Amino acid sequence: MGGTVHTPEGPREVDVQIAGGVITAVGNDRAPEDARTVDARGMYVLPGAIDVHVHSRDPGFPQKEDFGTLTAAAAAGGVTTVVDMPNTVPAVDAAGVMESKAALARRQARVDVGLWALLRSGTTSEDLEGLAAAGAIGFKAYLGYAFSLTRKQVHYSPDLDDPDLEAPPDYGTLARLAPVIAELGLPLLIHAEDPGILAAFRRPLETYADLLAARPAEAEAVAVAAAAEIAGASGVRLHVAHLSSAAGLAAAQEAIRAGAPLTLETCPQYLWLCDDDFRRLGNAMKVYPPIRTASDRDALLEGLAKGVIGMVATDHAPHTDEEKAAPFGEAPSGSPGVQTLYVSCLELAKRQGDVWRAPRWVSEAPAALAGLQESKGTIAPGFDADIVIVDPNKATRVRADVMRSRQRHGALDGMEFGFSVRATYLRGSLVSGEGRRAERPSGRIVRPFRR
Ligand code: NCD
Ligand code: ZN
Repeated sequence: MGGTVHTPEGPREVDVQIAGGVITAVGNDRAPEDARTVDARGMYVLPGAIDVHVHSRDPGFPQKEDFGTLTAAAAAGGVTTVVDMPNTVPAVDAAGVMESKAALARRQARVDVGLWALLRSGTTSEDLEGLAAAGAIGFKAYLGYAFSLTRKQVHYSPDLDDPDLEAPPDYGTLARLAPVIAELGLPLLIHAEDPGILAAFRRPLETYADLLAARPAEAEAVAVAAAAEIAGASGVRLHVAHLSSAAGLAAAQEAIRAGAPLTLETCPQYLWLCDDDFRRLGNAMKVYPPIRTASDRDALLEGLAKGVIGMVATDHAPHTDEEKAAPFGEAPSGSPGVQTLYVSCLELAKRQGDVWRAPRWVSEAPAALAGLQESKGTIAPGFDADIVIVDPNKATRVRADVMRSRQRHGALDGMEFGFSVRATYLRGSLVSGEGRRAERPSGRIVRPFRR
């Protein structure tokens, strides 16, 4: 009680009442005599974030991360739901795999977990229906990423002579399956880098400039335009993951103007950093698609300010600090980020003149994408009591020693944001903060409401 609450009507100095894990009242009604109260005077009371782009690495690479470390980092950062990418091993390409992964996640999850399914070039309509029935939040297509049939693993490989590799999904795959996905009422997600353009510009990576030349912005723009055409024709809701460039944004805007049902996500690393930061950060900022120039960053900031880009997710993609210490060309791409999503977005929104935009980027809009808009993303009666208490007068400095992920050094290392997460509640129970860490996994598997 006593905080400034982000309500659907805007910020209000009201109390939030909770019973049985659900919000029962938002206002100034008198609390029941026996109610336990939390003093939030001077604090912001925000809906828990829903990070729709995380890589748990579990199962497959628990040395990089697992559901325990991922969700501990999430809880510490005010993220109460994570939606996990399907490039774990075995990759999530069938209902049975999804069910085993859900069971594994449930045993360790400190916050709620949703699961994306993988779209392969060999995926059938029956596969999609099975995955939807198993609770898939939607389907992710990694353009240009092949699939190892024996290892059941997604990996970037331009070499398709290997008989073990199934060709990556292409625009034909998207066009074939988009009507089925539309019928199921779920979103189609794309990793938008056109494989033909990546192949044409492939080169050894010695410098950061090599990376930018090898994965140019036009690869993103071409993939966005092509997939948006398919979305327009089929009516499938298309979501572009980790938008990284001015050209990609322009292509998306064009498609939206033409009526394509498109949602756009970018990530804090593309909003805070540019190529110049490589001198300071090194491999910690090696991510795919790459962090580009200052003008790309500024275009993305403007797209976010105008609402063309509606959400921010992290692409939390940890490796081990040892793996990231390899020479630039060999080091794996990816950075942790889930723990700093909320504070970094609050700082951005404040600089844009309206701090209350942040919960829309990280909570409201992602809830709609993931089909969770009936239960999450809003502080209103009937919604899950996933609530974050943020101190607007205490800064967070991003330091390896306070990170809960296995990879402790990330792209935002050294940054300072003028907000800190004081406590995170999942369905009314404290899961992080107030000197406490959630040791008992109380996260659940969430399923989408299908339109
Ligand atoms: C991701 C990973 O490591 O799984 N890496 C990355 O650089 N973002 C893959 C991906 O999201 O494309
Ligand atoms: Zn990713």
